[in-house]
Amino acid sequence: MTASSTSSKPLEIIADIASLRQRLSAEGSIAFVPTMGNLHAGHLHLVKLARERAQCVVVSIFVNPLQFGANEDLDNYPRTLQADCTLLAEAGADVVFTPSPAEMYPATQTMRITPPPIANELCGAARPGHFDGVATVVMKLFNIVQPQIAVFGRKDYQQLFIIRELVRQFNLPIDIIAGETQREASGLALSSRNGYLNPAQKLEAPRLSRTLQLVVDNVRKGNHDYAAIEAQTSQYLTQLGWIVDYISIRSADTLLPATVDDEDLVVLGAARQGQTRLIDNIEFQR
Ligand code: PAJ
Repeated sequence: MTASSTSSKPLEIIADIASLRQRLSAEGSIAFVPTMGNLHAGHLHLVKLARERAQCVVVSIFVNPLQFGANEDLDNYPRTLQADCTLLAEAGADVVFTPSPAEMYPATQTMRITPPPIANELCGAARPGHFDGVATVVMKLFNIVQPQIAVFGRKDYQQLFIIRELVRQFNLPIDIIAGETQREASGLALSSRNGYLNPAQKLEAPRLSRTLQLVVDNVRKGNHDYAAIEAQTSQYLTQLGWIVDYISIRSADTLLPATVDDEDLVVLGAARQGQTRLIDNIEFQR
């Protein structure tokens, strides 16, 4: 199947692993962008980075059941395949891989990737097993697509960190490229989950990135009592009606809680507006 495109090459839509392997077998270089679909300019930025780096750009669209908790939004996660394919054709992707859950998991996936302990902190603390599901599906996708390059977004900083560990610890011959977080003019990081926000929540949502920026300013002014900054920031957002999972200042290199000796830092935040969980982060130097 193909989707019409304004560019010369049509986008090929492939749903089964055997056909994908056959299609990719003769490709010289492959850059891969894994996604769960409902694509926005953040995803398309990653496709652009992939396009600059390989002959063949493969994007996967798969809402991975393994990484959703029992009370999460697996069933409601927006599925917009037709619109996604139009965007991917315009962005110059070559192949979109759209497997069904049965194609990816014909039997129960009893073999899993156990990510390092850091996966149980930050987003992993609120979402037990989430990064086990992410690492396992990404390993499967890497084995299916066999790219030389794979592109991930900095918006999911902890995910990017764990994928880098996966590649390093399993000696995968894949270069991981990180794309900058794409934002609305308000500063709100683009996310498929922004679509769940009602108008009042949408208006409030950019405060998360603004608040993380205040943390950065505070640290740069010389305040190195990170625990106090985190607590004050959480309290501030809570007072404004947010349900805060965490605000955390970490080493950008290890993701461990930052010490006063760390120069390269990242402040990460996860907080809910109603049912909608938003995450964001800012990397900075002390
Ligand atoms: P998904 O949330 O669809 O994100 C796919 C990729 O897009 C991820 O690498 C993510 O970091 C990146 N991305 C999302 N929003 C972005 C933004 N505003 N700016 C830049 N990049 C952004 O992350 C997943 O899917 C899944 O966990 C996946 C890796 C596909 C495994 O199932």
